[in-house]
Amino acid sequence: MSENIDKLTELESRITSVPGIEDRSTLENLKKELLGKTGTFQQLQKEMKSIPKDDRADFGQKLNDLKNRAAEALENRFRELADLLGEDVSDLDYTLPGKKPVPGRLHLLTKTIDKILGVFRDQGFHIVEGPDIEDEWHNFEALRMTADHPARDTQDSFYLAKNRLLKTHTSPMQIRYMENYPVPIQMVAPGYCFRRDPFTSRHSPTFTQIEALMIDEGITFAHLKAVLSEFVRGFFGRDTRTRFRPDYFPFVEPGCEIAISCPFCKGNGCRVCSMSGWIEILGAGMVHPGVLENCKIDSKKYTGFAFGMGIERPAMIRYGIDDIRHFYENDFRFLGQF
Ligand code: DAH
Repeated sequence: MSENIDKLTELESRITSVPGIEDRSTLENLKKELLGKTGTFQQLQKEMKSIPKDDRADFGQKLNDLKNRAAEALENRFRELADLLGEDVSDLDYTLPGKKPVPGRLHLLTKTIDKILGVFRDQGFHIVEGPDIEDEWHNFEALRMTADHPARDTQDSFYLAKNRLLKTHTSPMQIRYMENYPVPIQMVAPGYCFRRDPFTSRHSPTFTQIEALMIDEGITFAHLKAVLSEFVRGFFGRDTRTRFRPDYFPFVEPGCEIAISCPFCKGNGCRVCSMSGWIEILGAGMVHPGVLENCKIDSKKYTGFAFGMGIERPAMIRYGIDDIRHFYENDFRFLGQF
């Protein structure tokens, strides 16, 4: 009997220690040890049979009291700890198995943008962002895209109101930057673009671009070639070659289109590059003097280059993705791979 009384005394001291327990797992273990299926109380209950009949009722009473006190003390302490952590535990069942949290990660496009921006940051470019809703001056007019330009058709752009549209490219950031910062300028601006395009494997009404602008005295096409070639080698690999071909954009003169040697077939021709050996990745050129003047920059004194590049295409090439829609459908099975 005295042996069992000792056990009760020991139990009592365990219960007194409960309010001092600092972490939930210790509390959880103690709860299991005392109140669990094979816990101390259960065992003592079984041992009751061996207690002399006269003492049994008294022992049973004490045991029951202690059990209730233990349950209450544990419950209170769980609540206090949860309170400290700011959790609502009114309906919490501590005996349920825990849920394994799914760790978050950056979206593949965000990772690609960070990587590309890193290459330009290393070359001294200032990274800025602009608004998604633009006016016609920044999105079109200042860039010399006059009222009759096909891109200004409401069939092609998402207009929200008169003179308010979702930006169709990141080039308006050139204008905003020139309006707000003095020359010399060296900036890159990532951003979403919106066009009334169908949602297919190669087109999406939302896509991402990075715009770049560099203006100073004596900037030439050679600077453009150097900066872009450095980017291409930094992002696609040192042995990737760049091809410059003339192209037309109203805001540059001369304008060009830049392609990289296909990283899949090394320029021999494959399905990805439509057998041409080259993949077009961006438009570029020397900033048109009219654009500089629109931003009150003296075009006799200053020259500069600009380029605009889609992000999805390079990301698809780099990671072997065959459908642009994957970027925008938020399927965990896709996103979890990167
Ligand atoms: N804004 C053009 C587009 O979305 C791309 C572009 C071409 C940007 C030439 C430029 C440039 O800065 O110089 O199609």
